[in-house]
Amino acid sequence: MSLCPPSPVVSEFLDALAACVSDGTFHQLTLGKTRSADPTLRNVVVRPVTLKAGPHLSFLWQHETQTVTKNFASDAAVAEIRPLLGTTFYSAHLFTAARVVQLEFNKKTEPRLTFGKPSHTVAETTPPPHDRAKSRLLPAESAPWLHRLGITNATGVVREGMADKHRQIHKFVELLSHLAADAPLPADRPIEIADMGCGKGYLTFATHDYFSSVANRPVRVTGVELRPALVASCNALARETGRLQLRFQLGSIADARLPNPDVLIALHACDTATDDAIARGLAVGSALIVTAPCCQKELRPQLAAAAVLAPALRHGIFQERHAEFVTDALRALLLEWSGYRTKVFEFISTEHTAKNVMIAATKLPSVDDATRERTAHAIRELASFYGIKSHTLARHLNFPLST
Ligand SMILES: C[S@@+](CC[C@H](N)C(=O)[O-])C[C@H]1O[C@@H](n2cnc3c(N)ncnc32)[C@H](O)[C@@H]1O
Repeated sequence: MSLCPPSPVVSEFLDALAACVSDGTFHQLTLGKTRSADPTLRNVVVRPVTLKAGPHLSFLWQHETQTVTKNFASDAAVAEIRPLLGTTFYSAHLFTAARVVQLEFNKKTEPRLTFGKPSHTVAETTPPPHDRAKSRLLPAESAPWLHRLGITNATGVVREGMADKHRQIHKFVELLSHLAADAPLPADRPIEIADMGCGKGYLTFATHDYFSSVANRPVRVTGVELRPALVASCNALARETGRLQLRFQLGSIADARLPNPDVLIALHACDTATDDAIARGLAVGSALIVTAPCCQKELRPQLAAAAVLAPALRHGIFQERHAEFVTDALRALLLEWSGYRTKVFEFISTEHTAKNVMIAATKLPSVDDATRERTAHAIRELASFYGIKSHTLARHLNFPLST
């Protein structure tokens, strides 16, 4: 089939695409504003991939309920894109290391080209070599959001002051990959994931990309956040980078209306917000619940430990550590009583953050009554030893702390 030569504006866009693909600065192309005869087609996201045959561009044709992937060598990829512009798609966003190039068609199919800068231009540094190496569980297509969320600079190098956050994101994805492998996740439908108190969305984007592009499992990921500005900016970034199955919802951990999550994540949800999140996962039998609690204040005023501990607990720091320990130990035991296997561990070195204890719970097929009764007894003994009368997760579960 012969094609009319593209307009000069479209040619300029295609030249920009070909140039960044050939010099290695291409991050992503998103084709949107769909005018396809196929009503299920939503958009196409094109990202660089390295196959055995060498560097290619991977096209993700995203339909309402499925994603179709096709890979092309660079020249063939540009030739594929050309006939789609101004026909099937009325907008194209090209993300490169140096700029964002946007091609838009109006109703008369007249093209317009605009150029934008990458959002972060502050002083950047060369990272230690291991920061470059740790990209293994995040795919290359994570580069645009890592850059837009300020973790990396335009060339993918970790920015000054962001090394801890970068390490935390990768460590989290690594842990999630192990935890997910052991969890009874659905194989016949997309996995529903909720990230409660998602903040700026670093871990939400990472979770989405790990499941959809590394584990190759269809997912729908929802971030829940109280701050409207963060929800709006995360939704805009998810749309711009073609992540149709990632959305952010304004609301509270306790009350947000959500699809039932198979995986519930709540990292650094303050104080009893962690209990609210766990309770939501338990109420719907989530296969995997991953929390990293912080600011455990609830039990501190209640701590009235055995006489032997009283002199030690005069010191504020010991009270604080005991409150953290008792709060999280009771959470882990209550999860076990609810039919989960729990693991409690430091998920990142204290050198990087003090908020580093993770409680991960995987749903068991069943728990026998005797085990449940033994766990209930252990919970009451622990609560009694520390004089704890009220614990939010116990209250959510209607678990009486004393008999
Ligand atoms: C410390 S940040 C953690 C962000 C992210 N989970 C992480 O670990 O990188 C906690 C976030 O939770 C949000 N948050 C706190 N309480 C919340 C609640 N009850 N419902 C929804 N979001 C909440 C805050 O606005 C904040 O953005």
